[in-house]
Amino acid sequence: MSVVKSTLSDDDRRVVGDALQGALVDLVDLSLVAKQVHWNIIGPRFRSVHLQLDDVVDTARAYADTVAERASAIGVSPDGRAETVAKTSGIDTVQDNWIKDAEVVRVVTDALGAVIARMRERIRVTDEPDPVSQDILIGLTADLEKHHWMFQAESA
Ligand SMILES: [Fe+2]
Repeated sequence: MSVVKSTLSDDDRRVVGDALQGALVDLVDLSLVAKQVHWNIIGPRFRSVHLQLDDVVDTARAYADTVAERASAIGVSPDGRAETVAKTSGIDTVQDNWIKDAEVVRVVTDALGAVIARMRERIRVTDEPDPVSQDILIGLTADLEKHHWMFQAESA
């Protein structure tokens, strides 16, 4: 049952709700992974990568809130619980303990690549059902692709 009335049909709301929920989970996990390696990075590139990681965290946290609130606005209850994130994230788990700078760059590049691939699929499926939600997904994917570029440039 949805308390919040939606402007979308039931079918469209289901498709768009799934896309926004998936985006929420990926963005929450991306923010957690980026902070984990922000705290654990070691090596000569510590400072630049440490600071660069917080730019990713800022993007992920801001858009997590945007997509969750968009879900609410179309009558879909967003689920950002730790258990849900752990079960449904598209990002591989990151190792514990200290992690070398070059490995951090690789891990974050891979995480961004995985999230971007899933976001592009969400952009595709929301095209017809809800261009308003699609617009949010397009905007956030552009920002993620900018971070992806910068982390790839780090390892060139
Ligand atoms: Fe910090």
